[in-house]
Amino acid sequence: MKKLFIYYSLTGSGDAVADYLRDKGYDIRKVISKHKYPKNFGLLMFSGGFRAGINIKDKLIDFNNDISNYDEIVIGSPIWFDRVSPPINTVLEELDLSGKKVSFIFYSGGGEANKASEKVKDIGDIIILKEPKKYKDELKKLEVFMEKKCSCKKTCKCGCQEGKKCTCKDCKCGCHEGKKCKCGK
Ligand SMILES: Cc1cc2nc3c(=O)[nH]c(=O)nc-3n(C[C@H](O)[C@H](O)[C@H](O)COP(=O)(O)O)c2cc1C
Repeated sequence: MKKLFIYYSLTGSGDAVADYLRDKGYDIRKVISKHKYPKNFGLLMFSGGFRAGINIKDKLIDFNNDISNYDEIVIGSPIWFDRVSPPINTVLEELDLSGKKVSFIFYSGGGEANKASEKVKDIGDIIILKEPKKYKDELKKLEVFMEKKCSCKKTCKCGCQEGKKCTCKDCKCGCHEGKKCKCGK
């Protein structure tokens, strides 16, 4: 099964996630915005926040939207103004995700991403990491998120695996305590 992590990063959190996923066998595609974001922190917050707030889709440099060789697509975005970043708005518009196993990794300052999650919740599972460049423990959450997936394509938090019975109550895939996972395994 071929897996691709496609992501944007301005200050390094996304790159830390990419390094982690590369080691797990993911191909990596980083998108580059044509928009020149200011280096000055205040100006960056203003212009980045504004552009994310009005859902701008940044033009991208040499964007390759061919994902036909991949079964699983993981999309990574920093959270700007509680939203998906403008380069990833473009990615979401340009990729044909139908038939793919899709999930999202958001990285944010506070570990929250309400509006971004609302935007993509019907497309795939979501995990939100708090500054993974700074807090390496955040990457451990990824291990659980990425590796305990049922083949029903939803995240199984309980860790039930193919052929085994679920032993907890909070499995998002719909399997319940004492019952066989609905993914049919
Ligand atoms: C323009 C801008 C807006 C941001 N808005 C938020 C926000 O609304 N909530 C939050 O928790 N973090 C916010 N952050 C922090 C980033 O989401 C966080 O630092 C993230 O890890 C950056 O990812 P990157 O290093 O891959 O670019 C913002 C950062 C920038 C530059």
